Amino acid sequence: MDILKEDFMQGFIDIATEGYKKGWHERNGGNLSYRIKPEEAERIKGCFSYDRPFQEIGRAVPNIGGEYFLVTGSGKYFRNIEKNPSENLAVIEIDEAGEKYRVVWGLSKGGRPTSELPTHLMNHSVKKELTQGRHRIIYHSHPANIIALTFVLPLEDAAFSREIWEMITECPIVFPEGIGVVPWMVPGGCEIAEVTAKLMEKYNVVLWAHHGIFCSEEDFDSAFGLIETVEKAAEILVKVLSMSDGKRQTITAQDIRNVAVAYYVKINEDLLK
Ligand code: 13P
Ligand code: ZN
Repeated sequence: MDILKEDFMQGFIDIATEGYKKGWHERNGGNLSYRIKPEEAERIKGCFSYDRPFQEIGRAVPNIGGEYFLVTGSGKYFRNIEKNPSENLAVIEIDEAGEKYRVVWGLSKGGRPTSELPTHLMNHSVKKELTQGRHRIIYHSHPANIIALTFVLPLEDAAFSREIWEMITECPIVFPEGIGVVPWMVPGGCEIAEVTAKLMEKYNVVLWAHHGIFCSEEDFDSAFGLIETVEKAAEILVKVLSMSDGKRQTITAQDIRNVAVAYYVKINEDLLK
């Protein structure tokens, strides 16, 4: 048994590496977590050690009590994950009450899980409940164009969702529920985690103004593809805003409704009003 050969480990390393190549992970920017399946945890338990102490999460997340997560380390660089996964990643175990965690694998040269662990775990808790356990990935990155837009668009869910949906016809199909927006807040704590987790009740994509983006998804391809789509739409919008005083023509609210009907997705009508 080799934890590094597990499919979930390969998928995790793959999107970390591809995300770095996209320019979304300068220095230690961004973090990633995966809720390990019980059968995967069973297979790799021989690699775990239980000598590191339990730490407080900061908020209780009872519905993920007893689960294991693969997470990035705080201050670790995405650029280095592929070269050295066991130094830069950790498997953490959540206690039965969902109040504490401990590192059982990885961070071989020391360190701790990402400073955004409260946001990751609270988002996992919300999504496990709402998707009947289907969502397993929470991904945070720092893509330049979507961050740039948080300086010029109103920091409102409807304004952002509409502008981004308009930029690529497939956007309303890929994220029909839209995008949630968190105003600027101090990162790395329980306060921003609570605001983000609340928005994750409605959305799979949540923007942190002047900072970055979070998404929740079922698998690594979908998580990466979701951010790739949002960031490409943001890049087009930045180009449109740079080229003109305003759009000459665009995709209308009714066009977006028609795309949703054609592709059998339920569009978030609240954002189209
Ligand atoms: P960590 O290195 O602690 O994961 O922090 C990076 C980051 O992007 C904080 O929002
Ligand atoms: Zn960040």
